[in-house]
Amino acid sequence: MTTKALMNTYGTKAATLVKGEGAWLWDAKGNKYLDALSGIAVCGLGHSHPAIAKAVTEQASVLTHCSNFFAIPNQVALADKLCAASGMDKVFFGNSGAEANEAAIKMARLHGHKKGIKLPTVLVMDNAFHGRTLATLSASGSRKVQAGFEPLVRGFARAPFDDIKSLETIAENNPNICALFVEPIQGEGGIRVAADSYLQELRKFCTEKGWLLMLDEVQTGNGRTGKYFYYQHSGIVPDVVTTSKGLGNGVPIGACLAHGEAAELMQPGNHGSTFGGNPLACAAALAAVTTIEEENLCERATVLGDRLMAGFKAALADVPHVKEIRGKGCMIGIEIDKPCKSLFPAAMAKGLIINVTADSVIRLLPPMVMSDAEADQVVAILAPLIKDFQQD
Ligand SMILES: Cc1ncc(COP(=O)(O)O)c(C=O)c1O
Repeated sequence: MTTKALMNTYGTKAATLVKGEGAWLWDAKGNKYLDALSGIAVCGLGHSHPAIAKAVTEQASVLTHCSNFFAIPNQVALADKLCAASGMDKVFFGNSGAEANEAAIKMARLHGHKKGIKLPTVLVMDNAFHGRTLATLSASGSRKVQAGFEPLVRGFARAPFDDIKSLETIAENNPNICALFVEPIQGEGGIRVAADSYLQELRKFCTEKGWLLMLDEVQTGNGRTGKYFYYQHSGIVPDVVTTSKGLGNGVPIGACLAHGEAAELMQPGNHGSTFGGNPLACAAALAAVTTIEEENLCERATVLGDRLMAGFKAALADVPHVKEIRGKGCMIGIEIDKPCKSLFPAAMAKGLIINVTADSVIRLLPPMVMSDAEADQVVAILAPLIKDFQQD
């Protein structure tokens, strides 16, 4: 199904999807697909989860929206729950990942000005992806995302990802840096996983320098890697963490959480969002966070991810064009030694939804509720396609 009335930002659509249940999606022709993408790390609880459907329908029938001039019980409950789950102190709610990141960048600037820095600068990483608004695309490390949208927003400096040693020289050369913003696993950038010690070392370095440590967990958050937030694997507490995607399991919501002094930076009049944290979105997110907890989905993400990883490692052990299989929990990348975008339609034709990012990395972001049998089916469909893959 197509129309000339939509801006062509996404290119040709692969299918018209009309229904979802658990780890399965159906198109308008009645074809069924096993979903190993979850709407790009969004539907961690699968499609049409009854807890989300119930929360949304119940809330929509009493109050959808009222503005942030008024207290919203679900927003209060969600903030408390997220802080309890994360060890953070305060939350600002927006509607997307980019918007959560905008809040973080604004907080970094408030922090910089508080320290007397006139041109506060946020250190961001090569190959990063933080969103498509002007500030977040300027923070992203991909020319593809930035090209055509110059002039970029000032106030960013760049460092290599997963390279602690480079930071001292960068800090010496740029006294305006007041925060470091990083995805703990680079998602769009190709499921790049940093060394286990990276976040601990960043925490130490940022504390020494008086920089805010700000983590973009828009993709890694909400249970996907086996903890509610990825940083919880390393035992650190960041100053700021952003999330979105899986937070509302498909209902748009984003959150910027802060800890300690950073949690006091935003004051009345500093920031806002008409829809941010509205009753409907918070009802969905509250149901999602509660379900993740009640159904032990963080643990499930680890078990499921390990099963998929082991399955692919066994099936693709001797395939010369497979460079690396990596990831954490339900965030898995299979890097091929050449561009492989055509694997997406090839998998669709076999009834499987995957994604290819960074040209040559097959990205799997399955719902955490996927069964073992379904996971084995993902491997059974995809591994032969990868084995037989020649060239795009
Ligand atoms: C790490 C990360 N940050 C930010 C974003 C932007 O989120 P949104 O598309 O909801 O604005 C994404 C989206 O892919 C992301 O993966």
